Amino acid sequence: MPKHRNSLNVDPDEKDPMITRRSFLALMGVGACLIGAGTLVNASVLGFLYPNAMKVPPSLFSIGRPEEVLSRDGKIYYPQQKVFIETSAGKVRVQTAVCTHLGCTINMVETGYACPCHGSTYDIHGLNTGGPAPLPLDYFLVFKGASGDIMVDKSKTTLDWNQAWYSPTA
Ligand code: FES
Repeated sequence: MPKHRNSLNVDPDEKDPMITRRSFLALMGVGACLIGAGTLVNASVLGFLYPNAMKVPPSLFSIGRPEEVLSRDGKIYYPQQKVFIETSAGKVRVQTAVCTHLGCTINMVETGYACPCHGSTYDIHGLNTGGPAPLPLDYFLVFKGASGDIMVDKSKTTLDWNQAWYSPTA
């Protein structure tokens, strides 16, 4: 049984204590554990401080000035928000491009839309017509914002494709 037993295995009364190889390795192990624990704590604390809202696109977004949005007729894909913007005769409506099955981005096809992931199909209004998609595609609320831009609110939806049209001049 050693005379002195502590974490370094040294005699505290000794003037010039020698750290043994075993003690040095034990000390390094404890240090590594403390650094690892500190990193985990810091990572979890930073995770709490960083708001989740920053990781998802805002539900409210601008699609541009009315004169610019309404200057074209037809349907375009807006990849930043995964929506289709359709304009016709001074009106605009916005529809999701996210498949209602498992969330893949759908493509425009001649008959409406098709999902490349599992083969769901939708008609030109977004009604699900085939494949595993359980629901039709939503249209989003479109309105003129305070800045004068045409805004889209993804939190307000409708399935009524006629009601989905918005005219900034009406
Ligand atoms: S995600 Fe579109 S069919 Fe499965």
